[in-house]
Amino acid sequence: MKKAYFDFSSRLQDLQEKSLLRRLREFKPTEGMSALFDGKESIHFSSNDYLGLSRHPMVIEGAVKATKEYGTSCSASRLISGNNPLFSALERTVAQWKGKQKALIFPSGYMAALASVSSLVGKADMILMDSFSHASLWEGARLSHATLRVFDHNEPKNLKKLLERYAGDFKKILIITESLFSMDGDIAPLEEIVELKEHFEAYLLLDDAHAEGILGENGGGLATALDLADKVDVILGTFSKALGSQGGYVAAEQSIIDWMINSAKSFIFTTALSPSCVAAAASALDIIQSKEGAMLRRKLKDNISHFFEENLANSFFCSPIIPIKIGTESKTIEVSAILEQKGIYLPPIRYPTVPRGEARLRISLTAIHRADQIDYLKEALKKLGVL
Ligand SMILES: Cc1ncc(COP(=O)(O)O)c(C=O)c1O
Repeated sequence: MKKAYFDFSSRLQDLQEKSLLRRLREFKPTEGMSALFDGKESIHFSSNDYLGLSRHPMVIEGAVKATKEYGTSCSASRLISGNNPLFSALERTVAQWKGKQKALIFPSGYMAALASVSSLVGKADMILMDSFSHASLWEGARLSHATLRVFDHNEPKNLKKLLERYAGDFKKILIITESLFSMDGDIAPLEEIVELKEHFEAYLLLDDAHAEGILGENGGGLATALDLADKVDVILGTFSKALGSQGGYVAAEQSIIDWMINSAKSFIFTTALSPSCVAAAASALDIIQSKEGAMLRRKLKDNISHFFEENLANSFFCSPIIPIKIGTESKTIEVSAILEQKGIYLPPIRYPTVPRGEARLRISLTAIHRADQIDYLKEALKKLGVL
């Protein structure tokens, strides 16, 4: 007989009743932003591949070449024998791209976040984190054993109050924020946060996952676009969004990187990122920093402009992430299912990814969506009364 402790059926039933049950869907890309979801052809509006690089011939070629040369796996952690020359080459490029001294690659952005937060601060320290920060940053904060306080989303005034209250009580204070927020598509007031950080002699960690490839002349993300990279102590990012690959990284000064190599469990005790992913990210980064990258960023802006029916070509920032807030989880599931019947794949985003009662559809536009696909989406959303 099954032990009751391992029987999760009532908990799953509870999730089902609260419209919070998740299940895996099968996805197979077909052409452009079309894909088969559980066998049904749909237009895909939920990818983080903002520039469409995951199927770019040069990126694929990079991955194939590296696989032929190095095999499918590094077969060891980087500190043992997994550290092939692709890593140091990409780490140099990433560091330059982010305006930092050094970079360190991890098997995922999630692991890079765990590593950086938990190795930067400890018991005697405090973390002040934007309330909308990604789950990986919360988890990193928990692992660090630092005292955690949250400031209201994108509210530097609230951050200032907390800094005034706690400065001096802790050995160091680490401020954490995302740059382009993954579920809301808004951007952190980085200049104001940097001012506060400097004034209170705190440290700053910026998760640039969704801004890179998109913001700044060479797609370097928010800190470089604002020429503030030297004021941000640690920048982390991922190859899994606009770079169309997989893996994450931390960019910072040499001593921070060396400390992570010696202390971060999600770096030390895991097999190195596969050669194909490192090489794909390197090819994507070449494209992102080239004329083609600039052209793809323009195309992405054109698509965002098309969605909003407003010319955003000259705006510093316009977000490919467009939340359509619906409210209840059950209604969001219902709207998503109707869209799916019409051949639009836009899955419901629910608690705990977003707060309870703030369920939404998260549209993410890419450079390779066609105008008629965007029109079709808008028409469907309007007919449903959610746009
Ligand atoms: C803001 C943010 N940080 C970190 C991550 C983790 O990146 P990865 O998918 O490479 O693990 C994500 C991905 O969902 C993210 O949205």
